[in-house]
Amino acid sequence: MIEVSAPGKLYIAGEYAVVEPGHPAILAAVDRYLTVALTASDGVGHVHSSRYGHGPVTWFHDDDGDSIVVEHSPLDYVTAAIALLERLRSERGLRPLYYDLHIDTGLDDASGRKFGLGSSAAVTVAVIDALNRFYELGLSPMERFRLALVATIHVAPKASGGDVAASTFGGWIAYTAPDRAALRALSDDLPVADLLARPEWDVCTVRRLPELAGLRMLVGWTGSPASTERLVHRVSLSQERQDRAYARFLAESDAAVEELVHAWGRDPDRVLALLRRCRRLLDGLGRLRGTTIETEQLAFLCDEAEALGAAGKPSGAGGGDCGIVLAPARVGDEALAGQWRRNSILPLDLHLHAPR
Ligand code: PMV
Repeated sequence: MIEVSAPGKLYIAGEYAVVEPGHPAILAAVDRYLTVALTASDGVGHVHSSRYGHGPVTWFHDDDGDSIVVEHSPLDYVTAAIALLERLRSERGLRPLYYDLHIDTGLDDASGRKFGLGSSAAVTVAVIDALNRFYELGLSPMERFRLALVATIHVAPKASGGDVAASTFGGWIAYTAPDRAALRALSDDLPVADLLARPEWDVCTVRRLPELAGLRMLVGWTGSPASTERLVHRVSLSQERQDRAYARFLAESDAAVEELVHAWGRDPDRVLALLRRCRRLLDGLGRLRGTTIETEQLAFLCDEAEALGAAGKPSGAGGGDCGIVLAPARVGDEALAGQWRRNSILPLDLHLHAPR
């Protein structure tokens, strides 16, 4: 049996901007995991999952009310990852084999509600890693990351892949995405190996950040699952529709994230000030698009952190899921957690998953 686990993630800064190729975001991999166990089988392959087999199907109307968009299940990502790796296996002239995959996730709460820790990314990363070992493909972490991102954009074309990078590489990272539309357009015609070497990847970068000296990360869960696909659908604009206000958001987000990268691990006060700026930029973007990124609960979570001298921000697309706080030593965990609980926000005991 081959057993692989992939960590969950949290966005720290740069959300939405990172959807555009070349614009940076900061993420953390966290110590909750999704596990894939692979066993060889004969004749037919199965995917088993107690969690994802019969979850609710979520859908929403698009902006014009013309069509509906269906929220994807983690199993769609499993299928895409298997299809891509089997293509690579065949291109390398290796004999096809059968296997069963058992998926077990620690990225949801006990009743199956998602925390927003990136289960789709983690399952894609874990399945690719398991097949890499099973077929002895010898793929490097960067090749596995690229394959996981290609599989991801087959399911969710707009996904930046920040969560895929965090889950693959671990630690704190600064990430910029490639042009996924171009890669997706090429992906059915090119051999997989050629796709992984395309120049479209040149703007895709993963920079490791040092330890976060002088601050620690606290995480609060709002208990309301958010729909990232729906929010990104509403908020991000295709290149043709981008306006001046959106261009300003991108420029300000880039500047704040690059300054954060610079101050990370060196200047805790500057990190706090920049995180507060990123919170306000995201809130402004939501208002610009008539969409709530910072829900009342997320606002409460962040305001309480700021009142105590820390900095807080919705993590990811917002609309629910988790908020993150970076806190200096003088801010007691219990003081903040106590305030959060008054508003049904659950502190999650999460820490950085450091790269191995
Ligand atoms: O809501 P999450 O944690 O999946 O994060 C979404 C972050 C966005 O930048 C809004 C979208 C993306 O694909 O990066």
